[in-house]
Amino acid sequence: MLHSVYSWVDERLGLEELLHFAQKKAVPEHRHSFWYYWGGISLFFFLVQAVSGVLLLLYYRPGPDAYESVRQITYDIHFGWLIRSTHSWAANLMVVAVFVHMFSVFFMKAYRSPREFGWWTGLGLLMVVMVFGFSGYLLPMDELSFFATKVGLEIPASTPIIGPRLAALVRGGLEVNEFTVQRFFALHVVVLPALFIPLLGFHLWLVQKHGNAMPPSEEAKPVEARRSIPFFPNFLMKDLAMWLISLNVLALLAAVFPWDLGQPADPLKPAPTGIHPEWYFMSQFQVLKVLGQWFPGAAGEILGILLFTGGLILWFLIPLYDVRQKGWRRATYATYFGLLVLAGLVITTLWGYAAL
Ligand code: HEM
Repeated sequence: MLHSVYSWVDERLGLEELLHFAQKKAVPEHRHSFWYYWGGISLFFFLVQAVSGVLLLLYYRPGPDAYESVRQITYDIHFGWLIRSTHSWAANLMVVAVFVHMFSVFFMKAYRSPREFGWWTGLGLLMVVMVFGFSGYLLPMDELSFFATKVGLEIPASTPIIGPRLAALVRGGLEVNEFTVQRFFALHVVVLPALFIPLLGFHLWLVQKHGNAMPPSEEAKPVEARRSIPFFPNFLMKDLAMWLISLNVLALLAAVFPWDLGQPADPLKPAPTGIHPEWYFMSQFQVLKVLGQWFPGAAGEILGILLFTGGLILWFLIPLYDVRQKGWRRATYATYFGLLVLAGLVITTLWGYAAL
């Protein structure tokens, strides 16, 4: 019975071909293979976000009622707190996973030809993920999210000429209020998913097309000394085991440390002390703060914006600089640059927390 159903579907969809393809596809196995899991872990957290986000949508109301609806989700609706906690924790874990994935891809030099578009689409995904986080943070409209967004929007607002207009456009006026929530909501549930999903599809298609890159230490070995395992079922099983571990970590965090809801935002109150953005914006926040103190007026902020934009452009262009044929010197400089970026992000983030 099962066999005839399978043959019926196979005749129409070509399942056998797909299976054959998945069995032929091989994943390199070496002492850095652990890092291949992180793209899949990022994908897992994205799926969790999509499911928990739809569940939150059943009760969340953007606009003037936003805080009250999140209060109901947290305290009145059965398991609402768990869904909200899962969504907030998974958002943070996803950013962690995406950063680990990006740096592991970087240090394995997986951005090199023919995978440049994998790198560029990945950077696009990272930016969308960060805007997802930023826009989601405001949605509960509690004190912390309100003031952090207000402070956060002052950064783009300090860009010369276009900054103030851009900030007003994003805010929906001169102040952060229910119109901002409405805009951030549209961004969070319509615009960003509409950008993210096709970009992710392209990213994954590229991985299918080129397969997983080998780090230079493996590439240097003769072909017969390289090892690999079939994607299906061997690597897929390992991938799923990592998803299971990720699910456990997420469940533990969401249940044991439920996501907090502060007091409702009150624009007339002074900002509470120690207001700060989410941890993945802390580095930019701290650099801008310090440069603002060193160079009073707009100069410090402009310098900070130039520094981050310049760094991002170099990061984007790395596959065009570190090309295999150009030899070890460029490869080494690229690795140093990656270490510098990583150390810079970690140090300025910790510094930001220490200075609160
Ligand atoms: C939500 C964000 C992302 C998701 C869901 C995602 C997903 C994936 C998956 C499933 C793979 C194949 C498995 C692996 O090699 O880890 C992969 C590979 C890759 N990703 Fe991402 N990725 C994301 C963000 C990024 C970012 C931020 C970058 C870098 C800027 C990036 C660059 C790459 C590259 C170059 C590969 C090919 C790696 C190789 O050939 O070994 N990705 N991605």
